[in-house]
Amino acid sequence: MVYRHRNMFLLVMILSVCGFTVAEERHLLCSSEDIDILYSNCSRGLQTKDFSLKIEPCSLKGRSVWRGSLFWIPRADLTILRAHVNIWSKGFESVKWKGDLCKGVDDGYTFCGALKGETINTTVRFSGREPTFEEGEYTIVVKGFAGHHKELIACLNYTIIIKQPL
Ligand SMILES: *[C@@H]1O[C@H](CO)[C@@H](O)[C@H](O)[C@H]1NC(C)=O
Ligand SMILES: *[C@@H]1O[C@H](CO)[C@@H](O)[C@H](O)[C@H]1NC(C)=O
Ligand SMILES: *[C@@H]1O[C@H](CO)[C@@H](O)[C@H](O)[C@H]1NC(C)=O
Repeated sequence: MVYRHRNMFLLVMILSVCGFTVAEERHLLCSSEDIDILYSNCSRGLQTKDFSLKIEPCSLKGRSVWRGSLFWIPRADLTILRAHVNIWSKGFESVKWKGDLCKGVDDGYTFCGALKGETINTTVRFSGREPTFEEGEYTIVVKGFAGHHKELIACLNYTIIIKQPL
């Protein structure tokens, strides 16, 4: 009896230790000569279901425009959507950006205005200057907040591994 209890205790210990230390599983999103992109849910139980974003081309070299295929069934209406983006490299936060993606009027993204539970299957264009990052691993955490109460509805954790200097 005592023995059985002890095993139970051990099992509980192992489960809770794993629960705290095992990171969310990372999936390979794409891989090319110059970069690998992996993604996972954010840790601490912030799960994003029914979301996928594929980025084409899978390269940063000599580019300033990318196309993303977005598939998403949001958990809230996307009339008002705010994004927070944080980029870390070598343990330091290097970029912090907050912005409105959807404001309810004159929105530039096709997914703006989608209702809770609606299927979004669209492409989005990203553009920017050709990034000048050094080789190494970067963590990009993207959080989406919906509505006036800023409800967190998505949290994704991307890892970009830059294999050669850009
Ligand atoms: C995030 O968590 C949800 C719910 O557990 C799961 O369905 C989904 O596959 C996860 N996504 C990733 C990228 O691990
Ligand atoms: C994102 O993933 C990295 C690497 O797996 C991890 O170290 C970091 O804690 C994660 N961040 C969040 C907010 O989940
Ligand atoms: C999304 O749309 C594309 C092309 O419009 C289609 O090929 C794909 O099957 C759709 N995906 C889902 C999950 O409905």
